[in-house]
Amino acid sequence: MEVPFVDLSRLPAERDQAVRDAVLRVLEHRRFILGDEVDAFESAMASRLDCAHVIGTSSGTDALVVALMAFGVGPGDRVLTTPFSFFATAGAIARVGATPVFGDIEPDTFHLDLSRLDDIDRANLRAAIPVHLFGDVMDLDPLRTWAGAEVRILEDAAQAINGVDTKGRFAGTIGDAGAFSFFPTKNLGACGDAGMVVTRDAAIAATIRCLRAHGQTARYRHAEIGGNFRLDALQAAGLAASLSWLDGMTESRRANAGEYLGRIEAAGLLDGRLVPPRWHDRHTYHQFVVRIPERRDAVAEGLSARGIGCSVYYPVPFHLQPCFADVAQGAGAFPAAERACEEVLALPIFPGLTAEEQDAVVAGLADLL
Ligand SMILES: Cc1ncc(COP(=O)(O)O)c(C=O)c1O
Repeated sequence: MEVPFVDLSRLPAERDQAVRDAVLRVLEHRRFILGDEVDAFESAMASRLDCAHVIGTSSGTDALVVALMAFGVGPGDRVLTTPFSFFATAGAIARVGATPVFGDIEPDTFHLDLSRLDDIDRANLRAAIPVHLFGDVMDLDPLRTWAGAEVRILEDAAQAINGVDTKGRFAGTIGDAGAFSFFPTKNLGACGDAGMVVTRDAAIAATIRCLRAHGQTARYRHAEIGGNFRLDALQAAGLAASLSWLDGMTESRRANAGEYLGRIEAAGLLDGRLVPPRWHDRHTYHQFVVRIPERRDAVAEGLSARGIGCSVYYPVPFHLQPCFADVAQGAGAFPAAERACEEVLALPIFPGLTAEEQDAVVAGLADLL
């Protein structure tokens, strides 16, 4: 049996229809830039996340960039982050002219290891970007205590919409600002690129709104140099229409994760051949990422040869990317991150994945391991 890695056609048909209707309304009124749909999406998100300010952006990457700009981060500043995430996390830091500073990760959660913050040199450190990787929401209290008032916290919540921390706070609303992505395969997906920044800080929100439209304060008057970081009305309309399905889609991912764990255990794979992610009901399971300590690439190739989708997130840590060669320490600097890159494998987890497909994935793994 073939199993796709992601299949967007399995999203609820009623949700698809609601998105089509909403997009059609924009095509008919033709007010494509900002406007009512963007305002409505932002207020729906603000009340959903119980966070005062939501600013729609052109992508998750731009959400990170514009939030760092609003924090005043720029050349000469350093920003702490994980070496193990999607490229945009570190790329955004370099894009504003600052220097990324990396710390190693916790092997069991893949998160930045907050127990080792005292190893970080705080000289010119202006911000930190913790990442709620794969949808597993971090406990940011130790980072907040260490950061104090001088180091701003920007949560990269691109993969964690609807996830909550142990205190019940939504991912993205815990730090000084949170950045989200609505890339089509995200848990809340647009029909193209889209993102948002959320913040409880009115001043940061006002700066981001201004920077989002070229720093314009009045027509053709520019207080600052921003960019075009605007969310499209078409995307906002589709996203707002999808919102009522977000809880159900998140539950479906959690249920799939629980089912996988049962099957993996039943197949006897928990003897060290495979290490599953932790299970808790605050996780959004944007990805279901297992570790295969031996021969991960051969297992991935074997699954693909059987028609079973899987993917490696991420194969190269930031400190070993050629573009960061002059700022990073090189091989061996962050062993836990380097090991994760060699061992991780993401399995299909999308809403609509069937029990038979899960059986096929686990049977394939059992066979290959
Ligand atoms: C952790 C993380 N950060 C940032 C981004 C960037 O989001 P986008 O692709 O919407 O620019 C993504 C999305 O792929 C991501 O997974």
